[in-house]
Amino acid sequence: MAQLQKGKLLYEGKAKKVWEVAGDPDHVIQEFKNDATAFNGEKRGSWEAKGTVNNTVASFLFRYLEKQGIKTHFVDQLSPNEMLIKKLAIVPLEVIMRNRAAGSFVKRYGAPEGLVFSEPTFEFSYKRDDLGDPLINESHAIALGVATQEDIDEIRATAIQVNQLLKAFFEERGITLVDFKLEFGKHKGTMLLGDEISPDTCRFWDAATGKKLDKDRFRFDLGGVEDAYAEMLRRITGEVLA
Ligand code: TMP
Ligand code: ASP
Repeated sequence: MAQLQKGKLLYEGKAKKVWEVAGDPDHVIQEFKNDATAFNGEKRGSWEAKGTVNNTVASFLFRYLEKQGIKTHFVDQLSPNEMLIKKLAIVPLEVIMRNRAAGSFVKRYGAPEGLVFSEPTFEFSYKRDDLGDPLINESHAIALGVATQEDIDEIRATAIQVNQLLKAFFEERGITLVDFKLEFGKHKGTMLLGDEISPDTCRFWDAATGKKLDKDRFRFDLGGVEDAYAEMLRRITGEVLA
């Protein structure tokens, strides 16, 4: 990318900052921080290289998905912790796909952790930190005006496709893709996959041992979180952290 200049800070979230690109209204830079939070910001932490791992993993996976025909906001990885993306009008829904029972699914329904689903499940949370990102159904999302039926149909079809692609991608690398969260937004009227796909937003279990290699190590104080993130970087991209 030639002569990109970071402009104003547009937004700072719990794990990322979003910067304007000077003179370019169509793109923004997302900067991945080393900070981690869980349980709606109640638990906080930080570790070296977290931003680099998430940015590098997400950049790799967005490139991979683009090659498979998925439209994403990804343009380029600019540095270890910065990604150039198309500017989106975000649909304020977290789109969650699950292949096995874990996390809030286990808590809500009492299913045994690891239960394998015959079909992946699909659900939405309403992106509202002040409300704790509550589960929301389609008719409520439409009633609130956060998405249209067409948007939801497109998001669902893409999420199912992304799950098929990523499940196979991770199986080849000895990883079980348990569940993950996607976000979508519109760029010039086109729905694109946005945000990130990383150990922060997916559950990854080692296929042989069942070891958790994702943010659950931080959420539940399992230890070895830095090593788990470094291991996922290595499995996905082949890169070994210095
Ligand atoms: P859950 O089981 O806690 O509902 O999480 C489902 C998936 O979504 C899991 O892979 C972690 C991811 N996730 C996020 O990316 N952000 C969040 O704020 C939450 C709660 C979950
Ligand atoms: N990122 C979310 C938070 O800080 C929750 C999570 O990933 O568990 O609250």
